[in-house]
Amino acid sequence: MKTVVITGASSGIGLETARLLARLGYNVLGIGRSEANCNKAKELILSENTNAKVEYFLADLMQQREVNRVSEKINAYLNERCNGELHALINNAGCVRSWYMTTYEGYEQQFALNHLAGFLLTYKLLPALKKAQGRVIMTGSDSHKGIKVHWNDVMLRHRYNPLTAYKQSKLCNLLFAKGLNDRFASDGIRAYVVDPGLVNTDIGNKDTGFLVNLIWKIRKKHGVSPDVPAKTYAYLCEVKDVPDGLYFYLCKEKNYSKEVTKENADRLFELSERLCDIQYGKVGMT
Ligand SMILES: NC(=O)c1ccc[n+]([C@@H]2O[C@H](COP(=O)([O-])OP(=O)(O)OC[C@H]3O[C@@H](n4cnc5c(N)ncnc54)[C@H](OP(=O)(O)O)[C@@H]3O)[C@@H](O)[C@H]2O)c1
Repeated sequence: MKTVVITGASSGIGLETARLLARLGYNVLGIGRSEANCNKAKELILSENTNAKVEYFLADLMQQREVNRVSEKINAYLNERCNGELHALINNAGCVRSWYMTTYEGYEQQFALNHLAGFLLTYKLLPALKKAQGRVIMTGSDSHKGIKVHWNDVMLRHRYNPLTAYKQSKLCNLLFAKGLNDRFASDGIRAYVVDPGLVNTDIGNKDTGFLVNLIWKIRKKHGVSPDVPAKTYAYLCEVKDVPDGLYFYLCKEKNYSKEVTKENADRLFELSERLCDIQYGKVGMT
């Protein structure tokens, strides 16, 4: 049985992906921040199939100490029950914000959750991914286009614009995936980014101000159901001949920003290593 870890698996796109992969026979390990939502999600999956293999782990992934804590639990689970193998990691948890808000470590929240959490979690789970020659899949967005990384102020402390912060975090998803492929494709690991399209979820109605809340309430009505993008994650987990592409929409490759270069990917990798206090080259040693 193949094992998949999905972050933000308690609602929206992550929950639908967890449901679909559980139906396909995966051992699903979901991560969420709310006990109530995680319990509901687990009950829903089990109500569809009492034999489904599903576990939920609680963690506020915005905080690095929480990523570290939950990854220890997941690694222990993988070692005890899954032969230390992880076939896919889906870094999907994400947020939007209306104002400059920071994490415990003092990092801007959209950058911290939408990019750094996945960067750190992937590092922590890398031995298990290597063992299974696994896949790492990020939830990106077409909003990554038309923007550059603000290298001199990546948290946008000096001139904060929440939409710019969101778009930049989604560009980072592609740069991270490229950085992973450049470093670990030779170990059999492949990284991808899914563009889910416009999806009817509550992302813009959580911890946002009046205006973002209102705009998203109207906008999400035009979005597809989250079970539509779920199929692309399942495709990338299942497909036998590993696709060469990086960015996928509706199970097909699509074009991405010209900002996704080796130079930018390396620069983000080094910056993220510093911000997470890790070195991918020393994986397993910390
Ligand atoms: N919806 C769209 O149109 C769209 C388009 C492009 C990209 N995306 C991306 O899709 C991904 C999923 O978003 P969604 O639209 O499915 O929204 P969503 O329904 O709000 O799902 C977000 C998930 O992340 C979890 N989460 C939020 N903050 C967390 C934290 N601090 N620690 C751990 N988990 C946390 C949420 O938990 P709770 O259940 O407790 O809220 C939920 O499970 C995001 O990366 C987003 O940027 C969405």
